[in-house]
Order: sequence, then C-alpha cells, then structure tokens
Amino acid sequence: MLDVIDLNLEFHDHLVPETVVYDFDLHMDPGQIVGLVGESGSGKSMTALAIAGLLSRHDMQKRGQILFEGTDILTCRRSELRDLQGDDIAVIFQEPMTCLNPVYRIGRQVEEALRIHRRELSKEQIRQRALQMLREVELEDAEQIYRAYPHQLSGGMRQRVMIAAAMICDPKLLIADEPTTALDVTVQAQIIKLLKKINAEKNTAILFISHDLSLVRQLCQRVVVMQGGRIVESGTVEEIYERPCQAYTQKLIAAIPRCEKRRVG
Ligand SMILES: Nc1ncnc2c1ncn2[C@@H]1O[C@H](COP(=O)(O)OP(=O)(O)OP(=O)(O)O)[C@@H](O)[C@H]1O
Ligand SMILES: [Mg+2]
Repeated sequence: MLDVIDLNLEFHDHLVPETVVYDFDLHMDPGQIVGLVGESGSGKSMTALAIAGLLSRHDMQKRGQILFEGTDILTCRRSELRDLQGDDIAVIFQEPMTCLNPVYRIGRQVEEALRIHRRELSKEQIRQRALQMLREVELEDAEQIYRAYPHQLSGGMRQRVMIAAAMICDPKLLIADEPTTALDVTVQAQIIKLLKKINAEKNTAILFISHDLSLVRQLCQRVVVMQGGRIVESGTVEEIYERPCQAYTQKLIAAIPRCEKRRVG
C-alpha cells in the first residue's frame, strides 16, 4: 500500500542547505500499525508530513519516492494529491486545538472531508455520518457534541473529534503525529485503545509517531527508530524491545519508566 523509497528532505532556507531526513525507507501493508520513534528533532514529523503530501514548501528539496498504491506523492499532480488527502490518507496531530477552528461548531469540522470527497451525499446524509463517527469514537451524546464549539470540550474529547474527522471518509492510512502527547496518562490509554479498535474494525493502517516507547509497544506491530534524520534500526516490536541492536535504541528503551515496562510487558 505504502512504499517510501530513499526519501531525502533538505531545507534550503539558510545559506547552507540542511538535510533533515536521509535515505528513509518504509513499507506498509494495509491494516498494519507501524511506530516511528526517535528523540526530538530526529525527523519524524518531517517524514510524516512528506508522506501526507503536506510538505509543499518551495524552500525544501525532496528526493526519492513516496508511493501510495502506486501514486508518487512527491511528483503527482495537485489534483491527484487533493483526491488522496482526507480520503485515502488522513492525519491527526498533537494539539487538536490548533487544528480545530474555534469559531466553527464541531459537526461542521467533522464533516469537512466528507463534503469535499463525497459530493453525492445530501446534507442530512452527511450529518448522519458525522453523528455516527462521533459515536464511533465513543463520545457520549453525539448530538450535543455536534453542536458544540471546540473550547467547550476537554483535550481528550477534542482529540476524539479529530479522530472522527480523520476517519470520516474511511481512509486506508491514518498518520498520527504524537496524538496523545498533550494528554494525561489515563486519556492517552483511552486514545490508544480507540486507535486499536479502529484498526481492528476498519483495517486502517496507522503510522503512529511518538517519542513514548511504551505507547508504541502497546499499539504497534513494527517499529522504525530514527536518529538525526536517519533510520538506525527497524523491526517487529518483539525484535526492537527484546533485542535492540543499536545503543541508541537501548537508551530509548532504558528511558521507559520501570512500572510502565512491567505494565506493558
Ligand atoms: N525551516 C527549517 N530549516 C532547517 N531545519 C529545519 C527547519 N524546520 C525544521 N528543521 C529541522 O528538521 C529536523 C527534524 O524536525 P522534525 O520536526 O521532523 O523532528 P521530530 O522528530 O518530529 O521532533 P519532535 O519529537 O520534537 O516532534 C529538526 O532538526 C529541525 O531542527
Ligand atoms: Mg515532531
């Protein structure tokens, strides 16, 4: 489904070009959950934005291929990219408040991708689908949430709303960039459970980006470890957590608090 081949990302906004991602390769099958981990600044978000087709900056040079079902995200026409975005590929970010528009009601924002990609649907069909999505992300009283404004919801509820909006067109790939980092531990666990449920019920592939290795272990099947813009190690969750080869990975795993290790182990 997704094949990233030899991706290199280079900024040209300074005197000296700065490469932030080197020779990145990734293969994802339908329904697979892959974790992308690494310390701050290792290039996780840049890679994710590139895969989502959201790196349209002109001061950036992109080399390699990002093949989504055969279409190269880096070179395809804008119209092709627009057809994919929000329909086949959806994204959620760390802080939902920056993605939700404060002046629009939740319902309208959850429906957005559906309005763009499913023009054949009537207003009422769209509303019903949005309400159904709000229920699927386990928000109580979907009707009330539909009419609410973002500031009236808690952080955890807003992240559920973002997931509902991302999932409304039933994407094949969900890219989640630190979706739980701003949330407290209990809510984090609920969101992870929800992502697992979505994956099981809809076979959505998930690229889960986090610096929290214990969360990655709970959710993912495969893990890719990045450092300084490069992949230093990748493998199944068992391989990476039980037998990490690289000192860098060992250090990241050693940083998981002990009680967490016991809980997930
Ligand atoms: N405009 C820019 N010019 C040059 N380098 C940049 C620019 N914007 C970001 N970078 C660099 O790109 C690198 C990768 O950043 P990225 O946001 O992908 O890291 P990350 O792994 O997502 O980190 P975090 O865990 O903090 O989110 C960083 O070293 C950052 O300093
Ligand atoms: Mg990031």
